[in-house]
Amino acid sequence: MSDPLLFVYEDREYLLAPGETLESDLGVLEVPEDVSPGDTVETHLGESFTARKLRGPDLFNHFERTGAPMMPRDLGLIIGHTGISEGDRVLDAGTGTGVLASAMARAGATVTTYEVNAEFAEVARENMELAGVADRVDVRAGDVTEHLDGPEFDVVTLDTADADTVVERAPDLLVPGGFVAVYSPFVEDTRAVVETAREVGLSDIRTFETIQRRMDFDDRGSRPSTAGVGHTGYLTFARKQ
Ligand SMILES: C[S@@+](CC[C@H](N)C(=O)[O-])C[C@H]1O[C@@H](n2cnc3c(N)ncnc32)[C@H](O)[C@@H]1O
Repeated sequence: MSDPLLFVYEDREYLLAPGETLESDLGVLEVPEDVSPGDTVETHLGESFTARKLRGPDLFNHFERTGAPMMPRDLGLIIGHTGISEGDRVLDAGTGTGVLASAMARAGATVTTYEVNAEFAEVARENMELAGVADRVDVRAGDVTEHLDGPEFDVVTLDTADADTVVERAPDLLVPGGFVAVYSPFVEDTRAVVETAREVGLSDIRTFETIQRRMDFDDRGSRPSTAGVGHTGYLTFARKQ
């Protein structure tokens, strides 16, 4: 079957493969086999959907979810602070939904990612297919802390409560100049990561709290949104000398 596309109608969107049929209050939408991004397809009631190719933010919305997926703001900071790019080898854990793993692969990296929950790992493999990066992301079912004797990596990314156990081994896991990046939802875990990074002699240790404020523009004026705090978590970066 060909790759699915998004079919967009106002603020609604549906993920459909060529040949599939969608039945909704807007009528029956039959997706042609030769549909391309940008094409308009009408339901039998004459309502028009526009076909769109999936990009990163669409994957965030349409991946099957298991472990809490990383938000776009945190993905951007990890890629920005580590410089992940074409040809990099990345060790990642835990895979979870696979949002971070797929984003790094779509930036050109080859990713080995561990997920301790075998069912989550299976879902993540399917998500990598949807993202078009199954050939660049090796999803392995297992506890990352039991697989730290492998080859060196350019970057290690961690989104697990036991990240400090992996950071302890970062000097052996990383190439010279390589980065470790850790996402932690809690300050206590973040502190453990920072202390471990210091103990094992990593350099350039920096932690950032991620806060993003959305702006509202309406008839009364313009200001930061009052809905939500905008905090996601703490990102710690450290580097092998
Ligand atoms: C918050 S989710 C990761 C989400 C992921 N970064 C993403 O963007 O979709 C954390 C995942 O780590 C897995 N996990 C926790 N400890 C682990 C370990 N030691 N080794 C491998 N996976 C682990 C959990 O099962 C969970 O699915």
